[in-house]
Amino acid sequence: ARTSITRSKIIYESKRQKLAVASLIQEFTILPAKLKEIKDHFKSEMVKGLAKQGETLAMVQTHILGRLNGSETGTYLTLDIGGTYLRVVLVELSQGSQVSTKQKKYAIDSQLKVGEPKLLFDFMASCIDSFLVANDAVIPKERQLELGFTFSFPVLQTGINSGTLIDWTKGYSCHGMVGKDPAEFLQQALLSRNVKVNVSALMNDTVGTLLSHAYQHPRTVVGFGLGTGSNGAYIERVDRIRKRDTAALGDDVEASAQEMVINIEFGAFDNERTVLPITMFDNKVDRKSLNPSKQLFEKMVAGMYLGEITRNVLLDMIDNRLLFRGQSSRKLGTPWAFLTEHMSVIEEDSTPELDEVRRVLEDNLGLGLVESSETPVSTNVLADSTDVEVPVQTSGGESQRGGAVTTLADRQIVKLIVELVGQRSARFAAAALGGMLEHTMGYTWARDEVEKQEGVDIGVDGSLYGFYPGYESDLMSGLEELFALEAGMSFLFAKEGKNEKLKDRVRLGRCLDGSSVG
Ligand code: GLC
Repeated sequence: ARTSITRSKIIYESKRQKLAVASLIQEFTILPAKLKEIKDHFKSEMVKGLAKQGETLAMVQTHILGRLNGSETGTYLTLDIGGTYLRVVLVELSQGSQVSTKQKKYAIDSQLKVGEPKLLFDFMASCIDSFLVANDAVIPKERQLELGFTFSFPVLQTGINSGTLIDWTKGYSCHGMVGKDPAEFLQQALLSRNVKVNVSALMNDTVGTLLSHAYQHPRTVVGFGLGTGSNGAYIERVDRIRKRDTAALGDDVEASAQEMVINIEFGAFDNERTVLPITMFDNKVDRKSLNPSKQLFEKMVAGMYLGEITRNVLLDMIDNRLLFRGQSSRKLGTPWAFLTEHMSVIEEDSTPELDEVRRVLEDNLGLGLVESSETPVSTNVLADSTDVEVPVQTSGGESQRGGAVTTLADRQIVKLIVELVGQRSARFAAAALGGMLEHTMGYTWARDEVEKQEGVDIGVDGSLYGFYPGYESDLMSGLEELFALEAGMSFLFAKEGKNEKLKDRVRLGRCLDGSSVG
């Protein structure tokens, strides 16, 4: 669990340091009024995206109609890609919402993420091939295997198993793939390896999360992804999708369908920078990313970026000689070297001297100790030059003696910075979820469900939600704050005669492997 630093207990070493920290607190703290503004804008952007193609929120029509009820059965193969790993999963659905899986994770070489698409898709096919060989004994032989392809990038869906890539995100950027159909690429790669598998569904991970959660919790209305990237999907009433063009959607969209799952692609929210309080640290992350000026919201929320934001804040403090006496390390000067996992460890540290923080700083970031092989470097004071560091003579003091240079104040401030970045992410996620829920609850059917049928379920997948200390409770309290400000949502809080909390009616559930199972 998280143990937050008591802000009044920080022993500042100078007035300048104290002022700098106060200004960081101000920049990163999202007050209730701001949170509401973000949520309201999110909601109106959803409506905009439903009206017209090409808006900031893509609001992708997934071609998935109706709901699951837990009675669906069968054995299917899935390939899930979109983060650090690729997973091949054999999913068995048996009556009574039982799911069992057999799976294997494959690390994706970083070169594959930015090279020729053919190589990436051939790698996917080779993973499926080797998975099938290894699991030969349990693979049903009577028919061709059907594969669900979870491809966690923005795709303009043209059918249940076809679509065109809108953009790469999350550090992927294979050449010439935008506008092409990833399902088609995968099918071709499988064919050329003679792997007899049919790509029968193409979907986003958050859609998968929604569906797999719904398989066991039929009142699921939202699938939420909070991991390497961030995104959400929800069930929309078809007559509200103003941009819907039945002819263009093709035969698989039945005229009579009432509901369709929508993939919001909310990572792109507010790319226009109208409501988000973007700091210079966020701008640095954005500028150095593979997709500058895109996915701005994702870059403030998702696990892939939180460490990098923190690293930028630390470097700025160091450059201003307000941390570690102005000394950095080669590791801290390396883009993407500070990981969200490091933040989790720092968040959990409850020792009086912050020993875990010290351990991360020393062991993972090469700070605080002078190693003979690694001369400590002092960063240039120009804010933008921090990634190219010039070793200079250290200024003396503890570091010269080879001892630890981090002081308790340093560690306290590092912990506070980590908390600020982590909490801001959770509060932004709350604004997105608040927007989605309000949008959904605006329709009587969802509201009726909440009132009559004991609330709604939200399936959440992703490492940030799963492992980041305190994330879920920050998210929930952000949501509470938002709905407390919204008279129209007060029905979510209390049911007559019962002391119900918001979390009893808006139930967030961890949905492990949701993206694949769905
Ligand atoms: C990125 C992708 C999106 C995905 C999300 C979570 O935002 O664009 O499709 O759902 O990451 O993996």
